[in-house]
Amino acid sequence: MDKKKLFLEMMNFRHATKLFSDKKIPKEDLDYILESGRLSPSSFGIEPWKFVVVQNQAMKEAIEAVAWNQKQISTCSDLLIVLARKDVRSCDAYTQKQLGRWGLSEEGLKGLLGLYKGWVDGRDDHTIEMWSEKQCYIASANMMSAAAFIGIDSCPIEGFLSDKVDVILGIDTTLYHSALVLPFGYRAQDARGKHRLSFDEVVEFKR
Ligand SMILES: Cc1cc2nc3c(=O)[nH]c(=O)nc-3n(C[C@H](O)[C@H](O)[C@H](O)COP(=O)(O)O)c2cc1C
Repeated sequence: MDKKKLFLEMMNFRHATKLFSDKKIPKEDLDYILESGRLSPSSFGIEPWKFVVVQNQAMKEAIEAVAWNQKQISTCSDLLIVLARKDVRSCDAYTQKQLGRWGLSEEGLKGLLGLYKGWVDGRDDHTIEMWSEKQCYIASANMMSAAAFIGIDSCPIEGFLSDKVDVILGIDTTLYHSALVLPFGYRAQDARGKHRLSFDEVVEFKR
């Protein structure tokens, strides 16, 4: 099949699924979705994320209660919580480990760290957290697309109380905060139609 057609079919298949059936995602399919997140691009290759997969039903329900009671959360097969990293300043051990992977000379690494420092360190904590979150959203989009490509549904959710979800998950909040709630599973009802601005409204060429 034509690859462009196939890709756009997947884009049309994906929708923000509001209710999932009780069908479970096979482990190899879930691993494939997570792998597409792991392979996602990030600024400076810093990978400022962690993917927590909630399969425990009581935990899903506790998260739903602090997320506007959105039924996608308790009915899904696997509930992914995308965590954004906070320890991404140039002095942090995590950053140095990530930047140190490129096999650069001592001089080259010093130069890269200097560039990184100028880009990241001057920002306040909130701005850095948002920088990590932006990248988590790219990984999340890839995971939703990968899932749709094999007929698995999802719903990106920002309607949740991040600090409450952090407590439910028991995460170390000096290192992470929950950036996006992302249930995966199989739709229990037909998708609503797509509503999008027209091509000409969203695309502008400068020729
Ligand atoms: C960052 C982000 C946050 C969203 N938060 C929610 C949410 O909390 N609950 C929900 O049902 N849908 C949520 N959505 C889904 C959007 O409402 C949905 O993608 C949009 O209306 C377009 O519909 P479609 O995805 O079905 O094509 C969110 C989408 C994005 C990208």
